Amino acid sequence: MTQTVKYLKDYTAPTHLVPKTDLLFEINEQYTDVWATLHIEPQNGATELVLQGDVKLISIKKNDETLPETAYSLNPNDETLVLPNMPTEPFTLTIHTQVEPQKNKSFNGLYESEGNLYTQCEPEGFRKITFHPDRPDVMGEFTTEIRANADKFPVLLSNGNKIRSGSLNDGRHFAVWHDPFVKPTYLFALVAGDLALTSDFFITQSGRRVVIEFYTRQADAHQVAFAIESLKNSMKWDETRFGLEYDLDIYMVVAVGDFNMGAMENKGLNIFNTKYVLADSQTATDADFEGVEAVIAHEYFHNWTGNRVTCRDWFQLSLKEGLTVFRDQEFSGDRASRAVRRIENVKLLRTHQFAEDASPMAHPVRPASYVEMNNFYTMTVYEKGAEVVRMYHTFLGEEGFQRGMKLYFERHDGQAVTCDDFRAAMADANGFDFEQFALWYSQAGTPTLQISGSLKKNGGNLDYVLRVKQILPDTPDMPASQKQAMMMPLAIALFNENGEKGAFKLPNDDNSYNETILIVNQAEQEFVLREVQQSVTPSLLRGFSAPVHLQFDYTNEQLALLLAHDDDEFARWEAGQTLLRRAIFANETALQQGNDLPQNPLLIQALRNILNDNNLDAAFKAMLLQVPAEAELWGERDHINPVQTTMAREALLDEIAHALHGELLATALNARESENADKRGKEIAFYEYNPKDAGLRALQYACFPLIHRFDEAATIEQVFEHYDEMARKNMTHEWGVLSSINSNASAKRDELLARFAAKFDHQALVMDKYFSLIACSRRADTLVQAQAALNHPRFALDNPNKVRALIGTFARNVPHFHALDGSGYAFVAQHIKKIDAFNPQVAAGLARAFNLLKRIEPQRQALMRAELEAIVALPSLSKDVREIVEKILA
Ligand code: PHE
Ligand code: ZN
Repeated sequence: MTQTVKYLKDYTAPTHLVPKTDLLFEINEQYTDVWATLHIEPQNGATELVLQGDVKLISIKKNDETLPETAYSLNPNDETLVLPNMPTEPFTLTIHTQVEPQKNKSFNGLYESEGNLYTQCEPEGFRKITFHPDRPDVMGEFTTEIRANADKFPVLLSNGNKIRSGSLNDGRHFAVWHDPFVKPTYLFALVAGDLALTSDFFITQSGRRVVIEFYTRQADAHQVAFAIESLKNSMKWDETRFGLEYDLDIYMVVAVGDFNMGAMENKGLNIFNTKYVLADSQTATDADFEGVEAVIAHEYFHNWTGNRVTCRDWFQLSLKEGLTVFRDQEFSGDRASRAVRRIENVKLLRTHQFAEDASPMAHPVRPASYVEMNNFYTMTVYEKGAEVVRMYHTFLGEEGFQRGMKLYFERHDGQAVTCDDFRAAMADANGFDFEQFALWYSQAGTPTLQISGSLKKNGGNLDYVLRVKQILPDTPDMPASQKQAMMMPLAIALFNENGEKGAFKLPNDDNSYNETILIVNQAEQEFVLREVQQSVTPSLLRGFSAPVHLQFDYTNEQLALLLAHDDDEFARWEAGQTLLRRAIFANETALQQGNDLPQNPLLIQALRNILNDNNLDAAFKAMLLQVPAEAELWGERDHINPVQTTMAREALLDEIAHALHGELLATALNARESENADKRGKEIAFYEYNPKDAGLRALQYACFPLIHRFDEAATIEQVFEHYDEMARKNMTHEWGVLSSINSNASAKRDELLARFAAKFDHQALVMDKYFSLIACSRRADTLVQAQAALNHPRFALDNPNKVRALIGTFARNVPHFHALDGSGYAFVAQHIKKIDAFNPQVAAGLARAFNLLKRIEPQRQALMRAELEAIVALPSLSKDVREIVEKILA
């Protein structure tokens, strides 16, 4: 079966505009009738009108006159409705369609969840509601009337302002909403149901009062306070840092437990996965609180970067997503712990986006083609896209970047534009040449910078010469030979043997610097740093100034020096990570060759110094103790033996746990003492989220798994005895303790998990945590337990959060997913097939677990391939899963 591929190069402007759309939703028991009146403006004398729709059509009227069926043709294959003989003058079409939200488990279009109705329209869900030119460059004003039973659906919401409401016959009522801002169909939203309202307000910088409304289930209303505070902080921040003020008089957020993604930025009516709204200290970890804050901010920031200025077509998705992720990262960094936030973002990028870039799914930040757009909400579009925006910022500085943003809004407010328009605004506002920089949008794959440095005599002085070579990889869409050298900022400093930052001069410049940003823009080039000291250890790619692999032949001693002294936290952390990676690789080699495992005295001493350093921020110390995960270690390697990587990694963890047991214990106890210090005599409820305590807790639970590893029997006893006491403090402690002992083989671990599940039986989001603990355990019986969990009364295959918690987590559990008997692959594949029948988007997400196929050793590769071939053989397979699996197999 061949699939229709859409190409960026085929873009053509819309033949018809729709400046106004009037919608009427008549919500009934079994189905919902929708009448859509499109005010259509033909362009350039076009007569053939093509609308998108994947929904039951009842009738069409043109200017109030019903069209005979011969006047149009329906093409379910490409989801179009073609009307060949339409007027060239403006006209209206009124289209009557019918949908069954109760039967919709794809959570796209109009769907039901726990008796309430919600919509999801990005990217192409509007066509599941009615027929429309469902593309982002057709923008218009929407008026929406909703009619429904007043008891079942007391709350009726849509975008913009409520302009009318009242009661109808038969216990029904109605509300009419009008959104004064033009928008594409993908930003449309409707919510109808029985929901609790929590309200607040925000006064904008110009003094306008904005009403804030959060809608949840009644039982969840007490968990929205933190999200509301986060929204107000976001609104304030966008005013002060970007000069951007909110534009409507009301901002609504609705939380729903059935949602495919994190959240959706519908104009004035965000719809959120409950996971990113609900949080209190008894049910959410510190990381969950940080997730809520970031996603609330992200969706709010979309109001300007996404909604006021939107994308011309879906290839430009990163225009709004890369930019908005950059903005939410900056917001989080300004809130607290900037350096730690930056490292977390880099870790996420390198673990998942670098893997994507090295996989058959590799695509540029602006993809050149797609089959199913839902498959392109990727790490590359979001996270690498944010790094691309960050590079503009690094080149231009904060002021220059803001000049670019200002020009971008001056030029494009109310428009649907491209990544090139954004680049042009950045260039024109600053007189900066970003011509070559465009390659970041068209060339996939992670570049590698190979750097070497040498000292050279120059008269009585010393020069340090850096040679930089950039290597671009082959990707499925383009061989390396066709790729051109990219332009990127390389931030550097030089350290001497005492760990002090040394001064240097640049060519033709007599100022002294101790750090600078070099502009890399050729395949090979040399940079000369003048008048340097005798001993040089370069600190490279500071702040992770470009999304690349870095290769530099550091000695272990140089890495230890940077780890001890570098004042750029990313570079400092990275020096430690490089030492850890080297140690794991050495273990892998020893395992392969059947040799004794090497010892790492220098690394151990460096870690000891960190543990003993009382000046280090706790959250940063916790980051320094993180040993890279398997997926981070694989980079671009072939013939991966996943379980061997796990063994090599575990061996290093054992070495650290034994060599530093005393220090780990002392560090954890100290952190606990500091956390408790200001809470003596206070209520347990005092263990609330705040960045400082979160850092202290992160440090405790960076140490605790290693403490458990040192003496499992004693630790599990202790945990078993003190569990309730720890758990009573907050969820971070409860989760931290359970995660630390989750791979313990004793029955006590099972009993603790069972107690956890019983305690939170009615908290859906905590039950997700229970399922993910089951699925990420490295115990021998994990698959058996995961299979049993499928039958747990709180598990539901049609709930995306549950699927991701159990099956998604299992697919990232290296030794179990990659079990040599193929049982892990079979388990995941079986569920991809099941879930695909009703939710292709979630199934396609799971299918990505097989991305590693071609890079894995032959025995497992054959097992994986068999599963994938069985999947593509399914005649009714969705195009979502088909696109992913065919690319992996190709
Ligand atoms: N646009 C959403 C965001 O990034 C993500 C999303 C995409 C949600 C598609 C639902 C469907 O904020
Ligand atoms: Zn987004």
